[in-house]
Amino acid sequence: METIYDILKAEHDQMADLLQQALRDSSKVSFLKVKLKADPHMMGEEKFFYPVLEGEDKLSELVSHAYEEHNEAKVLIYEIEGMDERDEEWTAKISELKQSIDHHIEEEEGKVFERAQGVLSQEKAEEIAKQYIEFKRSYMNRIETGESLT
Ligand SMILES: [Fe+2]
Ligand SMILES: [Fe+2]
Repeated sequence: METIYDILKAEHDQMADLLQQALRDSSKVSFLKVKLKADPHMMGEEKFFYPVLEGEDKLSELVSHAYEEHNEAKVLIYEIEGMDERDEEWTAKISELKQSIDHHIEEEEGKVFERAQGVLSQEKAEEIAKQYIEFKRSYMNRIETGESLT
């Protein structure tokens, strides 16, 4: 069965592709695709994945660092959302977001996943995957129906 690592890793790959595309074409549409992938991803990690790691000795510092990196990405996403794609700062901001997210993904996969695999059982990693998928499903449903996300 799929674990939370499999799912997050697959989304990381999609996000990296979308960021590359956004940098290539500098369009707002491409940026919004990144946002639509990144928002629920970070939310889901913060809801179901990070909390089970926070209590672990070897992970608490890594997790609080991960939260900081999420916040950095969220601020950038918020700023870019308010910008016009013709703004002269646009490409620089997209590039900053790409660097920020690429860096976070690298650390998450290289450090957080590795240590998490040492403390979480296979069953737990599968259970978190289920919770994450369910959350993601309802999030995307709410996007489609235009319901509030808060
Ligand atoms: Fe992630
Ligand atoms: Fe993350």
